[in-house]
Amino acid sequence: MSKPSWGTTIAGLDIGTTKTCTVVATSTPEGLDIIGVGEAPSTGLRKGVITDLEETVRAIEAATEKAERMAGVHISHVYVGVTGAHMQGTNNRGVVAISGEDREVARSDVRRVVEASKLIDIGADRQIVHALPRQFAVDGHDGISDPVGMSGSRLEVDTHIITGGNTFITNVLKCVHRAGLEPAGIVFEPLASSAATLLAEEKHVGVVLLDIGGGTTDIAVYSGGGAIHTSTIPVGGNILTNDIALGLKTTFAEAESIKKTYASATPDAHGESEFPVKSMDGKTTRRVTRAQLHAIAAPRILEIFRLARGQIAEGLPRDILLAEIVLTGGGSQLRGIDQAAAEFFALPTRIGVPAMIGGLTDAVRKPEYATAVGLVLFGPKGEGAIWNGRSRSVFGKIASWWGEMWN
Ligand SMILES: Nc1ncnc2c1ncn2[C@@H]1O[C@H](COP(=O)(O)OP(=O)(O)OP(=O)(O)O)[C@@H](O)[C@H]1O
Ligand SMILES: [Mg+2]
Repeated sequence: MSKPSWGTTIAGLDIGTTKTCTVVATSTPEGLDIIGVGEAPSTGLRKGVITDLEETVRAIEAATEKAERMAGVHISHVYVGVTGAHMQGTNNRGVVAISGEDREVARSDVRRVVEASKLIDIGADRQIVHALPRQFAVDGHDGISDPVGMSGSRLEVDTHIITGGNTFITNVLKCVHRAGLEPAGIVFEPLASSAATLLAEEKHVGVVLLDIGGGTTDIAVYSGGGAIHTSTIPVGGNILTNDIALGLKTTFAEAESIKKTYASATPDAHGESEFPVKSMDGKTTRRVTRAQLHAIAAPRILEIFRLARGQIAEGLPRDILLAEIVLTGGGSQLRGIDQAAAEFFALPTRIGVPAMIGGLTDAVRKPEYATAVGLVLFGPKGEGAIWNGRSRSVFGKIASWWGEMWN
């Protein structure tokens, strides 16, 4: 398989509920280096789903222009993140006969068996976005991560299949096109966030990733090295801000700033200390204790955790063991949230910041950039993702090259 020349640029576009972010990276002998990042506020989405095309196009253009200026390159193709309650993950199995005369598994057999696992009834209004192989089996012997070259007559695969609603995905792609960009592929956002924050060992042992954004919390569970559950819940950090605004009778902007400065997911030692809160019209201020703020914020955090646990319990086979929780997304910056999660899930918890990449890492070493950074890491692997007809020839090469590096 031919490799792209070093210096090929790859871009990711995360159209989030609170911000739109474009990341550009260039390939180096060591992997990928980030060379540009651009961000713009999102005003055209609710709960991860586009509600205003024009506003979204404007945000994509603004974020991409900034990234282009920083990188000094023109961006033509982007890997685009998608999320929302319309996205669904399910596990399936595919089986094929090993075709070659020598009965050795070839790459084409691997492709065929993954295709076979995609034969599920999803309805006319949905499409398969990813088919992620978890493990292969040759003649009934399972637990194989790469069966190429093995001998046998029957090849099986367990895949995690992710589907999305056609109309929601079409709207995302429409905005990308209108902003003058070609979608190189689409990626379910928790997979991107996982690619930027999780270590291979964690995925092997068993880990839950929660990307707490503004309007959604994206979930990905890995075990045995592959994704075994993915889902989204339509609540994120913004609901906390709403509660604070209602509870303290102030504006959303003031509540947002109070949340970031004073709120905590766990009771802290400064419970009695007070902070000023502006009234709705901004003319008067009153004082509120941190303990009062905690009483508003903590139940919402627990509700997000409860909803996440419910989704995971529903979608996960009973015998899967989990060893860790990784929190990422802007919402994971709430003070004490890692401790609250550790207590709630009774598992060690850490905050995931984008790693696994070189270049301008200081500019993106924050949890809210996990998805955007992950898009350039995961996008080119593209397993099962939709490929735009015209971009396939250019990006197909990168895809197979990265695919090989990952295997
Ligand atoms: N220091 C902080 N403390 C608490 N919350 C924070 C902090 N910084 C950011 N947030 C919250 O993070 C959320 C935004 O996160 P992020 O940028 O990951 O969302 P998004 O990707 O735009 O949205 P989504 O993924 O839901 O579509 C907001 O609710 C914001 O208030
Ligand atoms: Mg997000």
